[in-house]
Amino acid sequence: MRLDLTNAKLNVDLSSWQERVDEAHDWLHEKTGKGNDYVGWVKWPLEYDKEEVKRIKDLALRLKDKTDVLIVCGIGGSYLGARAALEMIRGLYPNDGPEIIFVGNTFSATYLNQVLEHVKDKEIVVNVISKSGTTTETSVSFRLFKELVEKKYSKEEAKERIIATTDKARGTLKALADEMGYETFVIPDDIGGRYSVFTAVGLLPMAFAGIDPEEVLRGSKAAFDDFSVSDISKNIAYQYAIARRIMDEKGKSAEMFVTYELQLASIGEWWKQLFGESEGKDGLGILPTSATFSTDLHSLGQFIQQGRKCLFETLLWIDKMPNDITFPREEVDFDHMNYLAGKQVSWVNEMAMRGTLSAHVDDGDVPNIVIHLDDASAYSFGYMIYFFFKACGMSCYLLGVNPFDQPGVEVYKKKMFKLLGKE
Ligand code: PA5
Repeated sequence: MRLDLTNAKLNVDLSSWQERVDEAHDWLHEKTGKGNDYVGWVKWPLEYDKEEVKRIKDLALRLKDKTDVLIVCGIGGSYLGARAALEMIRGLYPNDGPEIIFVGNTFSATYLNQVLEHVKDKEIVVNVISKSGTTTETSVSFRLFKELVEKKYSKEEAKERIIATTDKARGTLKALADEMGYETFVIPDDIGGRYSVFTAVGLLPMAFAGIDPEEVLRGSKAAFDDFSVSDISKNIAYQYAIARRIMDEKGKSAEMFVTYELQLASIGEWWKQLFGESEGKDGLGILPTSATFSTDLHSLGQFIQQGRKCLFETLLWIDKMPNDITFPREEVDFDHMNYLAGKQVSWVNEMAMRGTLSAHVDDGDVPNIVIHLDDASAYSFGYMIYFFFKACGMSCYLLGVNPFDQPGVEVYKKKMFKLLGKE
């Protein structure tokens, strides 16, 4: 991974932040900062439960041949990371492994009905994921899909086809899983939802999809090693965190996370939750938004180029994507596209990226932070996710907010519960 700040227009010596970074680095590593009960993710690449990872792999192997569809039931941190991994590593229409469908992330009856209809004659497994065990979106979906599993299969078979990922001891879901005899996996106490991709929350759906959890963890471990130094000049996660703070101080109130691959759009969704929930509190924070180019250049491009100068872009560029296409020549050049004949479509994409970067930075005065990732492998996914964890923790501490709580999310729940008549 490489961080390129040459287009970021920072004009500030990052080393002037060293003292503040040293202090925040200790808060993260010594568990002495705000929200210190939730920094279990920092050393997780070293300390993860090897037995549980083995159990995840064994389970996926055991159920693989009798699963057409894995239904993952969860919301927020309990699904976004898994979805991001699956799409980045396997692409949007993979030919191997079970189909994976996400529910529990909406109250849309139309969507739920469509999924129920779509899977009713297929072999299904349900993985319900909830740390608290009481999230309403998840619980509504889970009841519907649990009912479907119980209708389709014998009691014994149904028990095998429902897997719960939740708190190790507490909560409604844990109690239900124990009562019903479901296999359970643990979301550790000291790891919050949006920092939980490297636990069973993310690893179980990945294993079902044929992604080796140990490769993901190996990537996270390499990132742990690289980003455990406090020295800013040696730590690009901290450089990114400082760059964000400088942007904020310069009045940039929005950050647009940009990729050039449709299969990376869910990384943007995951990234928005990570930074949005971690940073957006106490009236502070940068609004995280995301876009996929060149697709969204035909919708948001105008605003970015000439609209209000409120944003900067963070561009994630994958140096080597797995597939390419050579653009064909046609004898008669009706569409005037022969000038690209023989070129790789990935090259066209790269030229679009370079042209856009220059248009936005040089002509549009929109600063760009550029992150280069080697490839879209499981290892690189693990590395990148840990990079963003570390950058986010640092960025929040530098801002002075607790990166690990989300008190604001409760407000809509309270109002909704009142309307729903929940006691
Ligand atoms: O990051 C978070 O903590 C949240 O987004 C949660 O992951 C989300 O609200 C789901 O919570 P739970 O796993 O308790 O169902």
